[in-house]
Amino acid sequence: MKQDLLTFGVWSPQQMQSLLELAVHIKHHPADYKNILAGRSVVALFEKPSLRTRVSFDIGINKLGGHLVYLDSHANSLAGREDIRDTAANLACWADAIVARVFSHHTLKTMADAANAPVINALCDKYHPCQALADYLTLHEQFGAVKGRSLAYVGDGNNVTHSLMIVGALLGCNVLSVTPEGHSASPEIVELAQTIAQQTGARIEKSYAIDAVKGVDVLYTDTWLSMGNKTPLAEIKEKFMPYQVNETLFAKSGARYIMHCQPVHRELEITSRLIDSEASLLMQQAENRMHGQNAILTHLLAK
Ligand code: CP
Ligand code: NVA
Repeated sequence: MKQDLLTFGVWSPQQMQSLLELAVHIKHHPADYKNILAGRSVVALFEKPSLRTRVSFDIGINKLGGHLVYLDSHANSLAGREDIRDTAANLACWADAIVARVFSHHTLKTMADAANAPVINALCDKYHPCQALADYLTLHEQFGAVKGRSLAYVGDGNNVTHSLMIVGALLGCNVLSVTPEGHSASPEIVELAQTIAQQTGARIEKSYAIDAVKGVDVLYTDTWLSMGNKTPLAEIKEKFMPYQVNETLFAKSGARYIMHCQPVHRELEITSRLIDSEASLLMQQAENRMHGQNAILTHLLAK
C-alpha cells in the first residue's frame, strides 16, 4: 500500500530515527543512491512561492536518477479549473509521487485520498515536515546526537514550530516554543508532541515569557508573517519586536547555534549580525533540505 508523508505525527520514534540515519547515509554515499529513482517521475505542485523547497527537490530528485515536473498552480491557472481530487488522481496516472505545497492541510488529505501515489507535504498551514527533518539532521551533525538536546523556538507559533515539536519529540529533543499571546502553537499539536515525547523522554513546552529562553543549545526563529498572512507589518512588529532573535537574547539563552528555516526578514525576526555570525546554521539547514528529502523519497519510493 502506498504511504504518504503529510506529517511525521503518525510515525514512531524508531521510524524517525531510521529516516534521519538514511539521510546521513545518502548525504555521505551519493553514488549508492544515484539510480534509486531511475525512470521515476515526481510532480511538484506549488500553490505558494518557494526557493529552497522547489530547487532542493528538483536537484535532489535528479541526483537520485529521477525526474521532476514543476507545476505552479497559479501561473498555470490550475487553481479552480477542476476539483483537486481529479487533479491528484490524474497526476498519479503518470507520476510516481506528488510533492505539494498548499494553503490548507485539508487539500493535502484530499489529494492523498484521491491519488494512487505517495503525496509529500512541501508545506501547508499546519506542518513543514521536510524542513524539520533537515533541521534535526543539521543538529545531529553538530552534536552527534539529537536526544537530550534543547531547542528554543521564538516567534510565531506556526507550521515550522509544529513540525519542530513533533520531530523533536520523536527524536528525544526538548523543544520550548516562546511566542506572544495569541500566537502560540496549536494546542492539539502541542498535546500530540507531548504524547509522543512520553516515549523518548523529551520535554515539549510552550510559554509567552521571553525570559523562559535560557539554558538551551539552539535558538530557532521563523518569519512573523507566514505566506498568505495579510496582517499589516506595523501591527505585527509592535507585538513581536520583544521576541526578536538578537545578540542580547542569544547571549542570555546560552545557545551555541542559531537556526532559521528561511526566507529571513533581516532586522525583523532576526538580526543580520546573528544570521551572518559563526553561530548561524542557516546554510547547513538549507543544504540538508535536499538530503532529508532524498531520504523521504528513497523511503517512500525505493523498491
Ligand atoms: N524553508 C523553505 O521552505 O523555503 P522556501 O519557502 O524557499 O521553499
Ligand atoms: N512559516 C513560513 C515558513 C516558510 C518556509 C510560512 O509558512 O510562510
